[in-house]
Amino acid sequence: MIYAQIAGTGSALPSQVMTNAQLPASLETSDAWIQERTGITQRHIAAPNQLASDLALQASRQALAAANLSADTIDLIIVATSTPDYVFPSTACLLQAKLEAFNAAAFDVQAVCTGFIYALATAEKFIRSGSHRHVLVVGAEVFSRILDWNDRNTCVLFGDGAGAVVLRASDQPGIHASVLHADGRHADILSVPGNVNRGQIEGSAFLQMAGNQVFKFAVKVLDEVAREVLAQSHATLEQVDWLIPHQANVRILEATAKRLGIDPARVVMTLDKHANTSAASIPLALDDYIRSGKITRGQRLLLQGVGGGFTWGAVYVTY
Ligand code: UT7
Repeated sequence: MIYAQIAGTGSALPSQVMTNAQLPASLETSDAWIQERTGITQRHIAAPNQLASDLALQASRQALAAANLSADTIDLIIVATSTPDYVFPSTACLLQAKLEAFNAAAFDVQAVCTGFIYALATAEKFIRSGSHRHVLVVGAEVFSRILDWNDRNTCVLFGDGAGAVVLRASDQPGIHASVLHADGRHADILSVPGNVNRGQIEGSAFLQMAGNQVFKFAVKVLDEVAREVLAQSHATLEQVDWLIPHQANVRILEATAKRLGIDPARVVMTLDKHANTSAASIPLALDDYIRSGKITRGQRLLLQGVGGGFTWGAVYVTY
């Protein structure tokens, strides 16, 4: 049996920090409102010339160093992003060049905030099949570029960053199971409904969200998908050392923990300092807890994501 094992992790955050108090005064929001309704205190904002592939590069270098692997050993790169550098080529190809990982095939996946889970599950299949041995999986976002900074309903919620995981083939677990879901009938509750047409943006280039509907949907499916991936792994909730949900809103995290009957102390929380970094939020949170020594080798992690599409999914893994 070939497992996909986490060999190393890394992350990158832009140096500019924007606290709630530093948000534009014209938004008519407050630090108290944002903290109470979301748990967010600050977010990182990319520099004007900083692209998703730049953040991905920093995170990937860290992950490769942690895995003690050189870039030329990577045979596949998968980048999850909704804020790619270009329409094409893929951010994964741009990252491959920057990393000089010339033995790797490279492609992007687009599943918005579930993107990293989709990418990780895809990478696992490549490793399990025996076709690839070292896969670099990255979530990288510059969401600050697609926010309407006049819309307090959305712009206070998001931040920029990247997280990376190197998976390697092993006869030890590893990823036990992964599950993925989508329901495109809910496409309009979280979207950037625009495209490039004859040199113009047609539609809107800004994120739009029906916050309440997203909230309710997220709590429901995060509960369901956690149980589903554990059932597939023949594992129980008691065996989970850490729940690592997509970092969207502290109230979503708390409600999920409550529904699952998991002690909130076992739920990873980096939302307060990173805000919602979409596809980057899970690998950023994972790397944060590994580097601070909270997550240790041998522990069992339940990673779960939910986001635009609508998409949702989970991965159960022994670190
Ligand atoms: O990655 C997945 C993507 N996103 C999410 O998971 C987000 C899911 N949704 C949420 O996190 C929450 O729904 C929000 C944080 C977006 C909103 O919280 P809420 O408790 O659902 O508030 P609400 O939408 O019911 O709005 C309550 C009030 C409204 O005022 P009125 O209409 O009651 O007078 C909003 O205009 O709060 C107002 N409001 C704000 N006030 C101050 C909305 N945003 C802000 C703000 N500052 N930033």
